Amino acid sequence: MRITVVGVGYVGLVTGLTLAEQGEYVTLLDVDPVRIARLRTGESPIYEPGLEELLTAQVALGRVTFSTRYDEAVPGRDLVFLCVGTPSNAMGATDLDQLSRALEALVPHLDPECTVVIKSTVPVGTNRWAKDLLVTRRRQAGLPWENISFVSNPEFLREGSAVWDSRNPDRIVIGATEDHAFRTMERLYEGAQAPILPVLPEEAELIKYASNAFLAQKISFINLMADLCEAHGADVRRVAEGMGLDPRIGPRFLAAGLGFGGSCFPKDVRSLVHQLKAKGLSSIILDETLRINRARVSLAVRKLTGALGGLANRRIALLGLAFKPNTDDIRESQGLKIAEALIAASAQVTAYDPEAMANAAERLPELQYAANPEEACVGADAVVVATDWPVFAELPWERILADMRSKVILDCRNMLDGAAIAELGGRYMGMGVPAAGRSDQDG
Ligand code: UGA
Repeated sequence: MRITVVGVGYVGLVTGLTLAEQGEYVTLLDVDPVRIARLRTGESPIYEPGLEELLTAQVALGRVTFSTRYDEAVPGRDLVFLCVGTPSNAMGATDLDQLSRALEALVPHLDPECTVVIKSTVPVGTNRWAKDLLVTRRRQAGLPWENISFVSNPEFLREGSAVWDSRNPDRIVIGATEDHAFRTMERLYEGAQAPILPVLPEEAELIKYASNAFLAQKISFINLMADLCEAHGADVRRVAEGMGLDPRIGPRFLAAGLGFGGSCFPKDVRSLVHQLKAKGLSSIILDETLRINRARVSLAVRKLTGALGGLANRRIALLGLAFKPNTDDIRESQGLKIAEALIAASAQVTAYDPEAMANAAERLPELQYAANPEEACVGADAVVVATDWPVFAELPWERILADMRSKVILDCRNMLDGAAIAELGGRYMGMGVPAAGRSDQDG
């Protein structure tokens, strides 16, 4: 099939390239000429394991082309995927500006039999609104519109494993009302080893929000339990393990710590709050999910303040700035929020992240950046682990502790061996796990 993907962020780029890998001819269209120019040179504008290799391979096979123009990239295509950004507006509702602009731009160029697939995360009802808008414009322009169909096909890939997720989906949700659209999508995904779920567009839209909000809620729930564990000297990791053995609960997304960040969970939960309120329904369960998540950052800062007896002029090494490991994405990063709070409290912060330092430096130029984790920790009063990059567990902690001024380790992701740190003379604190080691105040 001949496909154009509009919007080459995480979702668009990964989707387009995996469709090409599957044998389709794909044009990647974006209105940002810089992004397209970088892609043309074989450079991925985002860090994502395996993405650049996939790009190089598909370009070499001649299956991928790039464009910044709708008049060039849309005519003659069987399918157009819309993967533009749908950020939060100031009120927390979803901003559909980019989607509106993309739809308007498609109007004169779509083939009369084209299927338009919305992959962007959009509030319930958006697919029907988008179709109405496009049909109205085509009619006004005297263009055929009767056989243009719309599909809601939400994406469930995770940053850091986006290529793998896109190649190995756990489900394919197809929200449509026309048989033609279902058949086209079934043909497109016929090789996939995943259940295909045909649903209404509204159901597809809600499956996406409900999934993200449920996972976010799972994280906030275990973080609430973490606080209760801490109050009783219990270890939330063992509580999570015990819960996760119940197959109805499952072990994943029960890692307590600093809570969730990224470009999806915070914005999608906020959007769902708006969607519930718009229908007069209670959003309390989600309000609380967000509140618990915000409180993780202040809890971490309070713990550090208590351990150091104040933050002003204390030297803090902050390990991790990306919102999760294996990405350079700092959007809504909890670690970055800690950095901001520490700077506001006049601490001297030196940060290190394997991939996200360039992005962080644009947002927080006042932060010091170290070339490696050890350098960040030399002379520090405390080390804060904010992102669970596996490499942080492998650090030479004996040497790091020896080079610190006072030896406080705040492990916001519960990923280090607290007992081992205590044996090396450190004072270990986690989030809902027993503290270990003596504090300076212990005498
Ligand atoms: C999330 C969903 O997992 C994807 O299925 C979805 O497609 C995507 O949003 C999206 O809507 O596009 P992502 O934001 O990439 O993916 O990352 P996750 O792995 O879900 O992690 C989100 C946040 O939760 C991270 O900050 C992570 O550190 C945190 N987290 C995750 C926890 O604090 N505890 C956990 O147990 C799991």
